[in-house]
Amino acid sequence: MKYTILQHPGHNRVYYNSADKLAMAELKIASTHLSVSCNNIEITEIGNVRYLLFETDNVLSENDLQILSRLSFLFAIFRVDKLKDETCLVPIKKHNYQYLDSKISTLLKYHGKTNEIFTRMMINLALLSSDFDYSENIKILDPVAGKGTTLFEAAVSNFDVYGIEIEPKAVHETTIFFKKYLEMERLKHISTKRQVYGTNKSNGVFIQEFEYARSKEEFKSQDSIKRLGIVNGNSKEADKYFKNEDFHLIVGDLPYGIVHGNTGAKKTGAIIRNPSELLSECIPAWYKVLKKGGVIVMAWNSFLVSRQKLAGIFNEYGFEVLDQTAYNEFEHMVDKSIKRDIVVAKKV
Ligand SMILES: C[S@@+](CC[C@H](N)C(=O)[O-])C[C@H]1O[C@@H](n2cnc3c(N)ncnc32)[C@H](O)[C@@H]1O
Repeated sequence: MKYTILQHPGHNRVYYNSADKLAMAELKIASTHLSVSCNNIEITEIGNVRYLLFETDNVLSENDLQILSRLSFLFAIFRVDKLKDETCLVPIKKHNYQYLDSKISTLLKYHGKTNEIFTRMMINLALLSSDFDYSENIKILDPVAGKGTTLFEAAVSNFDVYGIEIEPKAVHETTIFFKKYLEMERLKHISTKRQVYGTNKSNGVFIQEFEYARSKEEFKSQDSIKRLGIVNGNSKEADKYFKNEDFHLIVGDLPYGIVHGNTGAKKTGAIIRNPSELLSECIPAWYKVLKKGGVIVMAWNSFLVSRQKLAGIFNEYGFEVLDQTAYNEFEHMVDKSIKRDIVVAKKV
């Protein structure tokens, strides 16, 4: 059987010349979870439009379509049929996995924002590389949360999600935005602010947490209620804010060694902008709060630190860095000072 995928129109804009390479790498990793074997993944042109083409030894199952529908670049999927001498593309129904409308992560625009399609890809890769699957109640941590792209993308995917961010302003803006969103969309919710660490108000670290659901019925049950929270704190203390083995996945975009805007925390000198220094400082705490079989996916600026060095830090702390071919195919230029790559590390 032959299938083609039409890439999301925004995909080329995010990755410029590398869009095809990244799409193929994500599909290769996802294909290891399919019930069919998936071969000859390539880019092809049909009627002057570029598609990603692949072959399978059997028809894609419902579960296969659920996995493929979550590919970050997937816009539409077709079965390729031959009718006499003509190539026909037969549309296949995408699986609708979204709990919230994906517009939530596109509404905010600011310097230093991680692209939402790229963030979706990181979350997807983390889950595909872990011992968990979509049927579980997945809980994600972004330990360098910024203004929340990972939080919103994870919420779109129906996952519970928490962030840690050192900049009070970013935490405040994320909280205000999410509250407004829930109100605008008329989603049932409550929000609470509580201290998660520290002995008094002056040294206290606080979490702002939302519990929400799409309907009154879902809101009544602890099983169907969704959670999103953000801690204004330092990620090296993640284990003080969260329980051991609390998270299935940790996903984030490390600082790029570039200052974006004026911030409060910068004045205190608390921020480390070098990704490897930050990682070394935080990784013991991240290790503790991640479940066994869980995965960390971090994006970083590879102009600043080599893959080898970053992988070395993960290995030193007992993680296994995944290095099968496809995992080494995600490097791409963002602008002239940022070459972005991702590292995928598993707690085995
Ligand atoms: C590249 S930005 C993340 C952007 C985010 N993904 C978004 O789309 O808004 C990295 C973030 O890490 C935060 N950060 C740096 N050091 C930190 C630390 N020790 N603990 C928590 N956050 C930290 C920075 O303030 C910055 O907001």
